[in-house]
Amino acid sequence: MPETIAIYPGSFDPITNGHLDLIERGSQLFDRLIVAVLTNLDKEPLFSMSERVEMLRAVTGGIRNVSVDTFSGLLVDYAAAKKAQAILRGIRAFSDYEYELQMALMNRKLAPTLETVFLMPAVSYTYVSSRLVREIIRNGGSVKGLVPELVEERLREKVFPQKP
Ligand code: PNS
Repeated sequence: MPETIAIYPGSFDPITNGHLDLIERGSQLFDRLIVAVLTNLDKEPLFSMSERVEMLRAVTGGIRNVSVDTFSGLLVDYAAAKKAQAILRGIRAFSDYEYELQMALMNRKLAPTLETVFLMPAVSYTYVSSRLVREIIRNGGSVKGLVPELVEERLREKVFPQKP
């Protein structure tokens, strides 16, 4: 049987514990899971592409069948280039559903044989998002437990750089 390959795409600005939970779950389902970071974001990201990739690699390094890559252009084209059979996405709450459904159906229209697989993160992460993490840290709040420790450090350095 050919190996099953899934792409977990996103902006990961930055990776949260919710993303990590999903990566761990996805790595159990597929032979290979490629975490793919979108390079051409509409908005100015907090972390550069290389910073996001470096953090992802550091926190997923212990998971044997997970790799981290970048992509631009259409996700379906990237998935075809990687010979992936599935796209992995997380659904936290009803509010995610509409956006995710639209994307999944549009991707199906573009690539009918590529399936989107939805997984739910642990309940304790259902309210965690990169956007809220950025907002909390910018306003001096604590993101402990919401992101991996390394990311917490990087966030602090980014928002409150050490003065010489
Ligand atoms: O984590 P995000 O920001 O919600 O991820 C969105 C992402 C990267 C999955 C989506 O924007 C995407 O796939 N972009 C690539 C361009 C593309 O294929 N667009 C059509 C999607 S229907």
